[in-house]
Amino acid sequence: MLAEQTRDEVFEAELRAQLELVETALLQSAEAQTPMVTEAAQHIIAAGGKRFRPLLVALSARLVPGASEADVIKAAVVVELTHVASLYHDDVMDEARIRRGSVSANSRWGNTVAILVGDLLFARASDVVSELGTDFVRIQARTFSRLVQGQIAETVGPGAGQDPLDHYLQVVADKTAALIATSAIFGAMIADADPVLLQRMADFGEQLGMVFQLSDDIIDITSDVTGKTPGTDLREGIPTLPILLARRSTDPADARLLQLLDSDLRDDDALAEALDLLRRHPAVDQARAEVERRATIARLLLADLPPGPARRALEELCESVVTRSS
Ligand code: IPE
Ligand code: IPE
Ligand code: MG
Ligand code: MG
Repeated sequence: MLAEQTRDEVFEAELRAQLELVETALLQSAEAQTPMVTEAAQHIIAAGGKRFRPLLVALSARLVPGASEADVIKAAVVVELTHVASLYHDDVMDEARIRRGSVSANSRWGNTVAILVGDLLFARASDVVSELGTDFVRIQARTFSRLVQGQIAETVGPGAGQDPLDHYLQVVADKTAALIATSAIFGAMIADADPVLLQRMADFGEQLGMVFQLSDDIIDITSDVTGKTPGTDLREGIPTLPILLARRSTDPADARLLQLLDSDLRDDDALAEALDLLRRHPAVDQARAEVERRATIARLLLADLPPGPARRALEELCESVVTRSS
């Protein structure tokens, strides 16, 4: 027992040191030709964030001994830069004023600069991923294309005759789960994992990514302390799982909520009232049950991984995503 505890402590110290190196590399990769562009490109990186995707790369790479530390850092930088770049664009699309507890780039520099800085960071991610080889480049390109198509699908909404819930789940898979799955896959590839383990990490990452976004969508309704403005999805008219479930209600007591959901929620009073009603609605617990159901699938996939500190840490990571919205 003591040996296992010591092993976990050494593991954690090594991991922390590795993630520190990722921080330095991230800021370096955002350096540009002028101080103004550097400042804008480093702004959302420096604002913090959970670094969930770099952590997943690092943990996945430790399932099998022998991963190159330099490559782990590069892959972690690639997934975080891709993520951050998508946040610059997302905040323009969502007209978000706050990101990571700081003023959003679009608020500070305007939409044009925010979009172009996002492009710059995507370009930097491509630069770094090229150092890892063609297989990584291909996966990165396909991930990026899924992410973008997820964002487009969310903007356009369901097609005629398409079930809104199916549409929403496809959006979540593409805009969020794709990059989280790629984080798990990159780590396993760097560790030279066998094809069975690689597939398992792909499946785990995809499921964890779903849980991650579904949890985030619940928090958008229930929490005031996310570093983002609560109710952003509602205000933008983006129907997430709790909203889709509430919309199905035939209970006359929900008439006011349904009326609000069909109205223009850019009005602050209407948004506050809709949020208040939703927070007390059973749809939130139903959405939490779906998070739990998917987390169970993710946990089962982990149970087949090589035992050790990396698997334990992945189990904890999975729990932390569920607990965020519980
Ligand atoms: C925000 O991602 C966008 C979603 C996919 C929900 P994160 O929740 O990982 O944001 P940061 O990186 O911690 O800021
Ligand atoms: C996040 O989407 C951006 C991507 C996943 C590409 P959201 O709009 O749902 O996330 P937040 O709430 O702004 O972080
Ligand atoms: Mg957004
Ligand atoms: Mg969005």
